[in-house]
Amino acid sequence: MDYVYGPGRNHLFVPGPVNIPEPVIRAMNRNNEDYRSPAVPALTKTLLEDVKKIFKTTTATPFLIPTTGTGAWESALTNTLSPGDRIVSFLIGQFSLLWIDQQQRLGFNVDVVESEWGQGANLDILASKLAADTAHTIKAVCIVHNETATGVTNNLAKVRRILDDYSHPALFLVDGVSSICALDFRPKALEATKTAKSVRVFFDWNDYLKFYKLGTYWPYTPSIQLLYGLRTALDLIFEEGLDNVIARHSRLGKATRLAVEAWGLKNCTQKEEWFSDTVTAVVVPPYIDSSEIVRRGWKRYNLSLGLGLNKVAGKVFRIGHLGNLNEHRNYSSQETIVSSVAESDFDLYMYFQLQLLGCLAGVEMILKDVGYPVKLGSGVAAACAYLQNNTPLIPSRI
Ligand SMILES: Cc1ncc(COP(=O)(O)O)c(C=O)c1O
Repeated sequence: MDYVYGPGRNHLFVPGPVNIPEPVIRAMNRNNEDYRSPAVPALTKTLLEDVKKIFKTTTATPFLIPTTGTGAWESALTNTLSPGDRIVSFLIGQFSLLWIDQQQRLGFNVDVVESEWGQGANLDILASKLAADTAHTIKAVCIVHNETATGVTNNLAKVRRILDDYSHPALFLVDGVSSICALDFRPKALEATKTAKSVRVFFDWNDYLKFYKLGTYWPYTPSIQLLYGLRTALDLIFEEGLDNVIARHSRLGKATRLAVEAWGLKNCTQKEEWFSDTVTAVVVPPYIDSSEIVRRGWKRYNLSLGLGLNKVAGKVFRIGHLGNLNEHRNYSSQETIVSSVAESDFDLYMYFQLQLLGCLAGVEMILKDVGYPVKLGSGVAAACAYLQNNTPLIPSRI
């Protein structure tokens, strides 16, 4: 079995699932417990309060439902809308495409606004649709904040502004799966659940609300391990500081883009205003199949990169730079390791903890493998030059 994983660590640079901090892994490594005991509701109460801070709200009501991103989509749609409702939805890549497919299968009347893959949502069309909709037939505007397939980040504040400019009451539903920012669940969404006629059972927020009132919180058996994992994840985020987390991702994004530029390759994202700080989709020359780059990374360097999906399959590979990732080394794992290795091995372990730069070095070797004339070290040097000038001290160690 060990052989399957190879020596050392897997360098996970897909844009999800992402690297999990060691303390979170350890927090989840525990037995189940009786969720009707006082301990689990007490824990849940802190989680619901603290999750709000991540979403930068003090008033909204969050729901913790064990599911995947696809389940979160369904939960948001069915709790707020009724079959036949008109919604405006932006198609800019594979994940917005999948969400639109779900919206259509749930019976909504989806007004699709399509852009070329690599571009952001066309907000001029949104403005014209809202302007024409004086009867307020549009019940929701759905947008993927960060299109993980192309590395495009949409401007949520601008969408909000456009809705406000037209005083349009449509709900603003945001997919925040690969964005580090918040889903803006305003009280309006909860209000809408009173009239929404979509069939929903497992995801029905009303069931949760009933148990919130009782103070027991769970209509169904919660995943105990996920609750403890979330508690630790929130603690780590607060320790680093949410704004510092955002700034760190900004540096990771910028460093990656500088490396791509130094390699002489193009970013799939066509304009700077849409550049994503969590994922970069890199366009390869037509004589290279980007899937081969991903295969090679896995087979030769134990490096996991993201494939190009659907329309951009074979044309792009993706570097995910989000989650438990830093510019230089993974401090939390390092601390654990240091206590168990001899001092002389310390530098070696430090080397193995290189994260983004390790990935960029790996990509360079792969590019050479597949016949792209890259200058080894060029991207790493560009990223290093930027990071060396811009990386602050670790906030908790100042
Ligand atoms: C932006 C975005 N939305 C939704 C999803 C779907 O999430 P899941 O596959 O966990 O259902 C993904 C998955 O990568 C995603 O990147």
